[in-house]
Amino acid sequence: SFLVFRDVPQLRQLRRKLLQNERTVGFVPTMGALHEGHLSLIREAARENTDIFVSIYVNPTQFGVNEDLSSYPRTWDSDVEKLEKINDELARVQAEGSGPATGRITAIFAPTSKVMYPTLPPSSEIDGQGSFVTITPLSTKLEGGSRPVFFRGVATVCMKLFNATTPDRVYFGQKDVQQTVIIKRMVQDFHIGTEVRVISTSRESDGLALSSRNVYLGDRRRAVGLTIYRALKAAEESYLAGKTSRADILGAARAITEQVLSQQNALSPSERALFEVDYISLADPETLEELDVVEPTRGGVLSAALKM
Ligand code: PAJ
Repeated sequence: SFLVFRDVPQLRQLRRKLLQNERTVGFVPTMGALHEGHLSLIREAARENTDIFVSIYVNPTQFGVNEDLSSYPRTWDSDVEKLEKINDELARVQAEGSGPATGRITAIFAPTSKVMYPTLPPSSEIDGQGSFVTITPLSTKLEGGSRPVFFRGVATVCMKLFNATTPDRVYFGQKDVQQTVIIKRMVQDFHIGTEVRVISTSRESDGLALSSRNVYLGDRRRAVGLTIYRALKAAEESYLAGKTSRADILGAARAITEQVLSQQNALSPSERALFEVDYISLADPETLEELDVVEPTRGGVLSAALKM
């Protein structure tokens, strides 16, 4: 089993002991409401480290004023249960010698906002007081277009969490690809001594990416949400079939979103889930600058967001 830490000093003490014993720490930051996507990060961390730290903290500074901070799912008891279960699974696999996993979860870090943001007044946590990490222009692109404080909050909390845990490796999901690009940039720019690992997206059987926020979707919006997967897949397929121009690759994606939009428009107002395309992007994997053509040696990142 594992220990739960609410503050930094005790966690540091454990970290120091692990370091002396030449153990390695893989760190998986989360906001809780854990699902298979989070667990896949933990399984990968178990293959590469002796010890895994998982953080559960709904970080207020990455939520915009009109976003879902107060309604974000908080499921502490079932989160802890899932983490205990995965530790049992890892122990079993290790005992049988039937898998590559060697590590276990040894610590959950679940800090309070007082610990994470000691100088911010509780009523105005998204205000600009205190210390923040800004990574420009990466934070202003894509998702940053409609969510101006989001990546400042993500980078800031990750900096704090990395300093509290000093992990050998950190694990992030490719689902949030811009987040991985920004964290890699931050680690490089601030000489943070950790390796950033990016893990492929876990999906439902129909292709919908697992997300803590999927609980907000009813059947209709869930079906429309699948458009993102179908559009990105079509774009990827056109690239794999040999297309390299932006017009061809994103054209394949737009054909899907337009088809779904016209299907929705044909439905009665009570049956449809109308949406707008916020962005469909084909960008450079490090700078996130939009690409006119993909150089196969450098590759490109496809991503999209819909507003419903
Ligand atoms: P959260 O949304 O809880 O996600 C935690 C980690 O799980 C992120 O690295 C995310 O990319 C990964 N993840 C989520 N869904 C996934 C899926 N379907 N497949 C694979 N990985 C998935 O991302 C955050 O929290 C926060 O921004 C955080 C980094 C914790 C900072 O507050």
